Amino acid sequence: MKSHPSAGLPHALCACLPLALCYLAACRSEPALDFGRGLDVPYVQTSPTVVHKMLELAGVHKNELVVDLGCGDGRIAVAAAAQFGARAVGYDLDPERIAEARRNAHAAGVDSRTSFVRQDLFAAPIGQANVVAFFLLPSVIERLRPRLRSELGSTTRIVSHSFPIRTWTPEKIAHSEGRTLYLYRLPQSLPPPGPLSAVPAP
Ligand SMILES: C[S@@+](CC[C@H](N)C(=O)[O-])C[C@H]1O[C@@H](n2cnc3c(N)ncnc32)[C@H](O)[C@@H]1O
Repeated sequence: MKSHPSAGLPHALCACLPLALCYLAACRSEPALDFGRGLDVPYVQTSPTVVHKMLELAGVHKNELVVDLGCGDGRIAVAAAAQFGARAVGYDLDPERIAEARRNAHAAGVDSRTSFVRQDLFAAPIGQANVVAFFLLPSVIERLRPRLRSELGSTTRIVSHSFPIRTWTPEKIAHSEGRTLYLYRLPQSLPPPGPLSAVPAP
């Protein structure tokens, strides 16, 4: 699997990448920050060891459907198919990533069990997934949360690399190579009302 330039960075620098993503998350409200190509999240790879741990944490079984939102070079989907015998669909807005993911699936011999679609993750179909996996910014997860709640069932597992789903309670937390991984399952209680919603409507 071809590595992105970030994969060649010294280990210490790579270990800081989630922190860098946090920083970007904080800056995301700044209109000047642009990841290019309409992307909501920059491309940062999950290491193969962490990918394996995510899929293990989610308890992926043979023939289950894994949906990978913001799939990058397809490594989560390809590993789900190649190592766990699952079927997987990856969505990414960047055409280069989709082309790379298809090449990687072909090289791993799993192109019949995987597909990669150039589509905005906010519009990607997730209802059939047994597992939804992602490595996204907190602000993006926040926007995704209502769809996760309304479109997924109680048997679907959701696994997030580095960033929790705010206000939800993880079923399990795991650690790998200094990264924190969060596993969720529905139902999740609704977030407590904010201070404004406590004010009676006029
Ligand atoms: C942090 S990378 C994660 C890549 C891969 N899942 C991994 O863990 O190695 C986030 C990915 O989301 C993609 N992305 C950003 N905004 C998107 C959007 N609105 N819809 C679909 N993909 C998006 C980027 O192109 C990038 O590949």
